[in-house]
Amino acid sequence: MSEQPHSYWDDTRIEELVSRRSKILGPSVWAAARPDAGPVISFAGGLPDIPSLPGEALLRAARTVIDREQKEALEYGGTFGPQPLREAIAERSSGIEGIPVGVDQVMVTSGSAHGIGTVCETLLDPGDIVLTESPNFPGSMRTIRSFGAEQYAVPMDELGLRVDGLEEQLDRAAQAGRRVKFIYCIPTHQNPAGCTLPLDRRERMIELAREHGTLILEDDAYGELWFRENPPPSLFALSGGEQAIKVSSFSKIIATGLRMGWAMGPAPLISRIAALRYDMGSSVFLGRVIAEMIRNGDLERHIVNLRGIYARKLERMEDALRRYCADYCTYQQPQGGFFLWLQLRPDLASHAVQQAAMQRGVIIGQGPQFFADGQATNHLRLAFSYVAMEDIEEGVQRLGEAMAEVGAKSAGK
Ligand SMILES: Cc1ncc(COP(=O)(O)O)c(C=O)c1O
Repeated sequence: MSEQPHSYWDDTRIEELVSRRSKILGPSVWAAARPDAGPVISFAGGLPDIPSLPGEALLRAARTVIDREQKEALEYGGTFGPQPLREAIAERSSGIEGIPVGVDQVMVTSGSAHGIGTVCETLLDPGDIVLTESPNFPGSMRTIRSFGAEQYAVPMDELGLRVDGLEEQLDRAAQAGRRVKFIYCIPTHQNPAGCTLPLDRRERMIELAREHGTLILEDDAYGELWFRENPPPSLFALSGGEQAIKVSSFSKIIATGLRMGWAMGPAPLISRIAALRYDMGSSVFLGRVIAEMIRNGDLERHIVNLRGIYARKLERMEDALRRYCADYCTYQQPQGGFFLWLQLRPDLASHAVQQAAMQRGVIIGQGPQFFADGQATNHLRLAFSYVAMEDIEEGVQRLGEAMAEVGAKSAGK
């Protein structure tokens, strides 16, 4: 059936109807990373490896849940999320964080994006200030902006967020008599920069947050996917669970399609966030399925397997980059996560390289989308997580050709 034209709901009518927040966001829908439709080699989206998706483990856990607790799994579970998953997360997190995490500190969310959205909804008023490390995850920057908050960018270097820059921005807000509601950051396996913030900077961040009476929103979407060694303790853990809300996700360690994640923080704050939810909480059924995967050990085994897969993919990427792209870019080796953040030679504009790569059937993310001001940079983000192992070399070879082409053009100008 062909789509009917909407004569009544034209743009003017819609604009008259929608909220201020909706107006800030505008009509275009947030294009979160999706698998590509065509036969391309994609280094674009922060998506998990496809062959290792744990369908069998999910089926096994779902069967157990239906056999054992069908009634509870198919009823409303409450705004904090299904109790068995909250308990499993609290117990598992106590081990990972090295501090006791209580069930009342945990709220299950529909992915970490939803967690970030609900924190913003609970804390932000128009005119508030949020400090965001720069570069950053575009989805979060867009959400923060949509609540009318102003974002002050905090610069990063090769180790991550610069704490002197953070102090400067906190002082700047204080001098203007303005309130910094929170500092949003991705300290571990950052998106897009790939870096992991060292312990001394984490400790300084917490000191500064305490001094300025503000909170840290710690996005840990990739934290568990380390390759060789555990990253430093989270900001949540270092502050004894007091100064940070940590949002985490099952998207990258199980599957993005589940839309399941969690937020952990001071219990009274988590309670206020949950109080805002009208949706009766995230999926009880899926929550119980994940709780079962944690209980029977499948999740832990899967994560160990993923660490090996992503480490091998990164190795292959680096090998190919050495061979085909070494003349055109540099990068810091990531300790985990999904991303390589390439700094291009100054004569190579990221947009031109992206276009030239696209003409060769290779898709990549270019720098400006990761900066709040959208200013042109000469960075490219390569996700090595989703691309098939056997396509990596070919994809990087074509990317090298694209860089060579852009380099030759700019030399000829
Ligand atoms: C840094 C970061 N935070 C949050 C998300 C949102 O993920 P999800 O809502 O699937 O947990 C992503 C997704 O790519 C991300 O990269």
